[in-house]
Amino acid sequence: MCVLVETPDIRLLIDPGAAIMQPRYPAPTEIKLYYLELATAALVAAAARATHIAITHYHYDHHRPDVPELFREKTLWIKDPNRWINRSQWERSRYFLSVLASERGIEVEEVSPEKGEYPDPLEELPRARKEGASEELRRKWRKRFLGLVRMWERGPWVSPEPFGAQVVYADGKVFEIGKTTVRFTEPLFHGVEYASPGWVLAIIVEHGGKKFLYSSDLQGPIIEDYADWIAAEAPDVLVLDGPATYLRGPLQAAATLERAIRNCVGAVRGAGARITILDHHLTREPRFREACREAFSSGAITGAEALGLPPLTDRLSAWKANGELGEIVERARARELDPDLPSRGLSVNLLEL
Ligand SMILES: [Fe+2]
Ligand SMILES: [Fe+2]
Repeated sequence: MCVLVETPDIRLLIDPGAAIMQPRYPAPTEIKLYYLELATAALVAAAARATHIAITHYHYDHHRPDVPELFREKTLWIKDPNRWINRSQWERSRYFLSVLASERGIEVEEVSPEKGEYPDPLEELPRARKEGASEELRRKWRKRFLGLVRMWERGPWVSPEPFGAQVVYADGKVFEIGKTTVRFTEPLFHGVEYASPGWVLAIIVEHGGKKFLYSSDLQGPIIEDYADWIAAEAPDVLVLDGPATYLRGPLQAAATLERAIRNCVGAVRGAGARITILDHHLTREPRFREACREAFSSGAITGAEALGLPPLTDRLSAWKANGELGEIVERARARELDPDLPSRGLSVNLLEL
């Protein structure tokens, strides 16, 4: 879901990450590893052009501490590692900062937690409260949230101070660079109410009356109020992650998936963007188009299509149907499959809209 957003003032690389696909993704491991290698090369090429990097949360498909050169000499706007974060990302963010610190020859600084208020986030989501998960589920999930609040209050926190102006915790912040405005939302659930994967930041970039919106991992969105917010922003370009239809079954209840699809379609239609890229969670299984039919018939396209290619799941189905998969694996081994992809990462120039 990495995108380079350009204006005359800034080249902002959002979420430079890529991870290997889930075990059930319909490709041989060799093909998955090959595309991961191409994606990593694309990240390096895009980062070379970037002035700023945003990290909306600490999943490895959104940041790559194993490729520290991505972050060299950039200003980093990153998710606050100390609040509104789950346990695993709390650890990962600290690891990421330690990698950055050692790259820059400095030490990570631990500090005492700031005093803060952690109101129940559902207070601000009236539609989800009314139409979303049952009270019984919410009560269970809220307990997990209260456990995390104790972790944030206990600390220790990590300070951005040693990095100077090069690392900023971006939750809820607005940055003005020349005539470009970059707005980070307050933390949003990574999925359902009190989502176990934690929180993400969505990003809006504006210049010359044009607006770009990157949702990050809202998984649909699942939350009704987030769909309303995306529609109300009415961006010219929308990059939305879509429902995780590949998790259908024990990991994603049917009712939640229906909710995610409904709100995804609502967000796409409501926003009415000139360009809607619907990808990431959605394109991880071959039947995604069927699941989100109404969003695609409203003009959404996948990230691959934005680069002039069919989505990989479609290509894999065709390769399999034509008995070409063996040959494709050979081409990957010879590094001859889509060799130009690393130079064609997804980028949006607000001046060209
Ligand atoms: Fe994520
Ligand atoms: Fe993700």
